[in-house]
Amino acid sequence: MRVLVTGGAGYIGSHTVVELVKSGHQVVVVDNLVNSNARALERVAEIVGEEIPFYKVDIRDKEGLSEVMETYAGEDGHAFDCCIHFAGLKSPNESIRLPLEYYDNNITGTLVLLDVLRQYGCKNMIFSSSASVYGNPAQIPITEECPKGQCTNPYGQTKSMLEQVLMDVQAADPEWNVVLLRYFNPLGAHKSGLIGENPNGIPNNLMPYITQVAVGRLKELNVYGDDYDTPDGTGVRDYIHVVDLACGHVKALQAVERKCGLAVYNLGTGRGYSVLEVVKAFEGANGVKVPYVIRKRRPGDVATSYSNPAKAERELGFQAQYDIVDMCRDAWNWQKNNPNGL
Ligand code: NAD
Ligand code: WQD
Repeated sequence: MRVLVTGGAGYIGSHTVVELVKSGHQVVVVDNLVNSNARALERVAEIVGEEIPFYKVDIRDKEGLSEVMETYAGEDGHAFDCCIHFAGLKSPNESIRLPLEYYDNNITGTLVLLDVLRQYGCKNMIFSSSASVYGNPAQIPITEECPKGQCTNPYGQTKSMLEQVLMDVQAADPEWNVVLLRYFNPLGAHKSGLIGENPNGIPNNLMPYITQVAVGRLKELNVYGDDYDTPDGTGVRDYIHVVDLACGHVKALQAVERKCGLAVYNLGTGRGYSVLEVVKAFEGANGVKVPYVIRKRRPGDVATSYSNPAKAERELGFQAQYDIVDMCRDAWNWQKNNPNGL
């Protein structure tokens, strides 16, 4: 299929581009590089052995997007068969300080994108949603039927609102196929060590913080709370290898080809690990010490979040292949080879 990937220079996007090209899809990337570097796509080209067409365009820029569409439009005026939409700002913390920026970027950006896609005959979208739409989950493990919860930050709100926008668009015009993928916690990197997670500033997420402690950029890991109602008191999450997540998008594309209408899937492993279990797995996999101190809970965190991944397995044939040791090994391989990112 001809696939437009927004945010394709980012962490999950770049890994997905690799898997899409490996599966024979033709990929075009648009990204404004607000949280990424075009070198990621050069690295992708190294991995797959072909250049990836890339346009530095903001998805709020209707003219810029239309120009890309014109470049690829066939005689029927149709440019792409599907859009995989990763572009967005993603820091829950930052979104509390910058709500307008988050709503504008994520919501306005998606509305402009949908309008341009429709104009150029593309009514298929795979959307990066998040387990954060479940808020403090009403049930564990979390199935797709679990009611959406109160998001504790504007970032989570944008995901929840955009899910609603996409559901409404699909309900109004059943020619649309929309797949909402609710990611649990992506970790790790491509096994080549050429691409990986490249956060700006001090990382918010657990694994980039651990790797930066291990590489000596940060002194020690702050473990946010050891008094949760979990086996060792630290928070439990469903970590999924980013390459598995990327493969989930290839499976979702097959669902779009089968004209799935509206479909919602959790992408996780179905297994929860505590913060201290992740630290131990990292130390064991890599033979590196990760000093840590216990701090008070981080506001907005939930005790436990892990998926029931059965629906994606049943309907998409998707099952995660990598375990926590693979995730820790590959995250470290990436960080070691690229101590200062790209
Ligand atoms: P990322 O920041 O690495 O990638 C997002 C990409 O989108 C970046 O390359 C950025 O430059 C680009 N972008 C942002 N705003 C843009 C705009 N207006 N126009 C064009 N490009 C723009 O983040 P990621 O971790 O790869 O996440 C990808 C998607 O998955 C995001 O939508 C994110 O919210 C969602 N998600 C991420 C996680 C996670 O833990 N990483 C979990 C659940 C959902
Ligand atoms: C994991 C666990 C922390 C950092 C966030 C977003 C979510 C989604 C994924 C985009 C928790 C603990 C963390 C640290 C720690 N992103 N921790 N010390 O909070 O599950 O989800 O990223 O959609 O929306 O909220 O992921 O990696 O930040 O935390 O102890 O320095 O590690 O308390 O238990 P989280 P995380």
